[in-house]
Amino acid sequence: LRAVQISTFGIENIAVTDIDDPAPVPGEVLIAAEAATINPVDLGIVTGALAPNFPPGTSAPYTPGWDVAGRVIEVGEGVDGALLGTRVIGFSPWMNTGQGTQSSLVTLPVANIAVAGDGLTSSQLTTVGLNGLTAWRAVDELHPTRNETVVITGAAGSVGGFALDLVIARGARVIAAVSERDRESMLSRGAHHVVTREQGDLAMAVRTVVPDGVDGLLDTASIAGPSLAAIRDAGRYVTVTALPDPERSITVARIVGVADAQALAALVGMTTSTGLQTPVAREFDIEDAKAAYREFASGPHRGRIVLTFPK
Ligand SMILES: NC(=O)c1ccc[n+]([C@@H]2O[C@H](COP(=O)([O-])OP(=O)(O)OC[C@H]3O[C@@H](n4cnc5c(N)ncnc54)[C@H](OP(=O)(O)O)[C@@H]3O)[C@@H](O)[C@H]2O)c1
Repeated sequence: LRAVQISTFGIENIAVTDIDDPAPVPGEVLIAAEAATINPVDLGIVTGALAPNFPPGTSAPYTPGWDVAGRVIEVGEGVDGALLGTRVIGFSPWMNTGQGTQSSLVTLPVANIAVAGDGLTSSQLTTVGLNGLTAWRAVDELHPTRNETVVITGAAGSVGGFALDLVIARGARVIAAVSERDRESMLSRGAHHVVTREQGDLAMAVRTVVPDGVDGLLDTASIAGPSLAAIRDAGRYVTVTALPDPERSITVARIVGVADAQALAALVGMTTSTGLQTPVAREFDIEDAKAAYREFASGPHRGRIVLTFPK
């Protein structure tokens, strides 16, 4: 198989090499990869910035990658043979296992995959993995209800974009906190208001729209402490990065994306039922992985950069 490998940290040291084909153990499937995203966390793996958090017992060379779209070509003992040949999305919690998906063959537990139809390209499908699952959990934690208004910071980003669609699908009002250049796209995706980083203080901008403060805030842009002032007393704050200190009885919570086959299936279903967006910024062949990471690092991008695998 062909895999992205990093023996010495640094984008310039990325290699795409042949390694031994894996075989599925009981409870696993073997997936012939068609597409795998590059996420911010992968850059942390490649550069070594996240090395202190790598799972114990793992060692170089590392293969990055958290999600994959492709077809099941082999099933391990105890796995339904009906999965053979089906198109799936799979999620690999790298910080638990050290097992990356930027590889032409990927083994995953059957509990980490969901069957997908043919409605999306594999590049679109793979964006639903880490980012979709993270947004899913974050929105569950925020639990916005129909009459509520919430802020999503970074709503034009990958996690924030899924969160925007998920909160709107729950019937709550969204104030998207984004860059000015994303104003129109946010409104056309259903955000009720937009506040921009160019306006300066986030909380002041939000309180000109909702003077008493919003019911909740989902922070994908890591604004943390200063964003709490946008939230009403006893409201809710959820982040996907670092937690701020709580204040005024606001509950604060940090979540991470986890393997959840039901959530993956629901997210894939929402791409057709409620128009969940799956933007792809650019595709690179796996052999051009170094160029893909360089492009990723030179962001910002709208949509994900995706590695593709020849069939
Ligand atoms: N906990 C988890 O399991 C988990 C999972 C996935 C991701 N994450 C983390 O979540 C964060 C977002 O990831 P992502 O993949 O969604 O990144 P992304 O696609 O780059 O999106 C981040 C967005 O935030 C925007 N932004 C930054 N500062 C802002 C500000 N002050 N006001 C408004 N918008 C601002 C960026 O806009 P510009 O492009 O204009 O700067 C961009 O649109 C990253 O830190 C990532 O590491 C955590």
